Amino acid sequence: MSITIKSPAEQDAMRVAGRLTAEVLDMIGPYIQPGVTTDELDRICHDYIVDVQHAIPAPLNYRGFPRSICTSVNHVVCHGIPGDRKLRPGDIVNVDITVIKDGFHGDSSRMFFVGKGTIQGERVVRVCREALWLGIEQAGPGKRLGDIGHAIQQYVEAQGFSVVREYCGHGIGRVFHEDPQVLHYGEPGTGLELREGLTFTIEPMVNVGKRHVRLLPDGWTVVTRDHSLSAQWEHTVLITKDGCEVLTLGAEERR
Ligand code: MF3
Ligand code: CO
Ligand code: CO
Repeated sequence: MSITIKSPAEQDAMRVAGRLTAEVLDMIGPYIQPGVTTDELDRICHDYIVDVQHAIPAPLNYRGFPRSICTSVNHVVCHGIPGDRKLRPGDIVNVDITVIKDGFHGDSSRMFFVGKGTIQGERVVRVCREALWLGIEQAGPGKRLGDIGHAIQQYVEAQGFSVVREYCGHGIGRVFHEDPQVLHYGEPGTGLELREGLTFTIEPMVNVGKRHVRLLPDGWTVVTRDHSLSAQWEHTVLITKDGCEVLTLGAEERR
């Protein structure tokens, strides 16, 4: 696979896909309450994407994934499959949305607290979100992918948490996962040099305990080996002439 540079028209299509993705996350937030099942969240998002947005939920049947969104609760790192488990007060849950509109993908995820958060839950969610934004601040023409990874790793480890290595951000466009791979650790000044028209995700996964993960027998669900809490935040970004544009900003982040 190779790296694609998006034309101005393709950049506009990515803006639309990114906005729709953010709107799904804005929409689902109020439903994340004690007692709701992740299957119910999946159904609400599916119907909104298909019936309201006239778009396609990219995860559904992607390499056999059985649902339209990923829901990753507590020690689940990523790619959690929605099911009949009811959310409980104190849970932290990542909802990961990927929407296809007019052939282009938008990909974003956020963390939500079910009821009131625990101290540890609030801390890992905050550190992960700050790490994503430190990575975004590094994204601009002439910078390198290693600058992004380094900024994230440096901050997370200084807070006493760890960065998952097995999964990474990715180029995105007509293809859900395309080159380049965007690692959330690394050395400054190394890796691909960024240029205008590149679109990719940054999506750090941060564990309270050790960085190691395990894949469950369902072939999708990734959990922390030590069962410690894990958080993830994801945005899709476009490299512009003088920096980057975050294509998946939520209503709250736009203000
Ligand atoms: N949205 C995830 C990502 O950020 C990928 C999910 S793949 C799925 O790259 F099949 F699990 F949906
Ligand atoms: Co992604
Ligand atoms: Co995603």
